[in-house]
Amino acid sequence: MEKLIVKGGTRLEGTIPTSGCKNAVLPIAVAAAILGDGVSVLHNVPNLTDVNTLCAVLEGLGATTKLKNSTLYIEPINHLEYEAPYELVRKMRASIYVLGPLVAKLGKAKVSFPGGCAIGPRPIDLHIRGLEHLGADVTVQQGYIYAQAERLTGTEMYLMGQHGPSVGATANIMMAATLAKGTTVIRGAAREAHISDLAHFLNAMGADIEGIGTSVLTIRGVKHLHGTEHSVISDDIEAGTFMVAGAITNGDVYVEGITERQLPAVSEKLVEAGVELDWDNNGVRVTTPRELRGIDVTTEPFPGFPTDMQAQIMGLLCLASGTSVISENVHTDRFIHAAELNRMGADIMLDGSKAVITGVSKLSGAPVMASDLRAGAVLVAAGMAAAGETVVSRVYHIDRGYESLEEKLNNIGANITRVND
Ligand code: EPZ
Repeated sequence: MEKLIVKGGTRLEGTIPTSGCKNAVLPIAVAAAILGDGVSVLHNVPNLTDVNTLCAVLEGLGATTKLKNSTLYIEPINHLEYEAPYELVRKMRASIYVLGPLVAKLGKAKVSFPGGCAIGPRPIDLHIRGLEHLGADVTVQQGYIYAQAERLTGTEMYLMGQHGPSVGATANIMMAATLAKGTTVIRGAAREAHISDLAHFLNAMGADIEGIGTSVLTIRGVKHLHGTEHSVISDDIEAGTFMVAGAITNGDVYVEGITERQLPAVSEKLVEAGVELDWDNNGVRVTTPRELRGIDVTTEPFPGFPTDMQAQIMGLLCLASGTSVISENVHTDRFIHAAELNRMGADIMLDGSKAVITGVSKLSGAPVMASDLRAGAVLVAAGMAAAGETVVSRVYHIDRGYESLEEKLNNIGANITRVND
């Protein structure tokens, strides 16, 4: 089992590059492999475990994929394999993205029901409801979802759940609707940048999607989609993680390849906490000229504060003066990292969907455990700021969503070693 040994007391200084967006690449690769009639080429693709797992799922369906130097070549499926097996789907929930495209392209799909994970039960009722709205017959038996339809038929639907819009359901239904007969209107659609990037990719394949970036998407069905070439947007959450890493180490870091409009709420909250952000058209310089102060943060769907930055800002606020309150409104169980931060000397109290953080003057290194990819990232960041050594275990979580994390951070002053015990 690999671990990261993080030497504390390091101050980050220099330029750190942002890789391609994991949560954009995953649905885009599915669209390219299942919906397209020709080869697609994706640029700016990060070399992540999740990307490799998805490629294995797509190869299992009959596609051919090759990732080389951040470029992913995808040759679509060309036979009627329509099953995404448990052993792959259990590794990565985003495998559910093949459900809608398979029904749209082949008229049927058999996809293992994705399990829950450390941050909550992760239901897929909106995915299923959306497909039923499009006329698919969907049943769940022995842990598998079976879906079929002669041809999907466009319709109007409201795709909002009790926690707001669903990124995954919006992606799944939007992809399925591109080949449906007639027009589909999705109200309550997710507006995350990676949903917009997927929509732009689908239109480049010949789809007809309007309302991109808004909560109402109109998709006029077409008969065929062709392969295309596309450069994936940069990863806002990776960039936000680096901004927090720069701030928590009281460093002077330029995060390259990101724009403020990709991270409006994160920028606003970091400035409110006392971080200085100097944006230009290719990135942002992060410094902390004054003591950080406690703030309140509520996670919400885009354009609100992203849940995928909740762990990271919690780590930063552990060292802010005063008290901060974080309300996690998107996932039902996304505070596991709080106990690990408390092991490092933080003072965090949990109360349902709220975390109350009382600032402390310093953190101290300790052995800690990553529970999901963002929790792992904040433990590395806290370890860099802490006194002494922090050993982060279950690093496989981090590798799912961060490309060469320790190399990137060591290049700007961190002291992180990966060991295999
Ligand atoms: C995507 O997950 C991201 N994953 C998550 O990022 C991210 O936390 C989440 O969106 C919210 O932004 C990928 O893009 C691969 P949702 P997803 O459907 O699609 C509820 C990371 O760190 N819901 O937007 O699964 C759900 O329980 C990962 O990169 C239903 O109730 O999230 C949650 O409370 C972690 N029914 C809320 O909606 C459904 O059918 C938002 O979930 C689907 C979701």
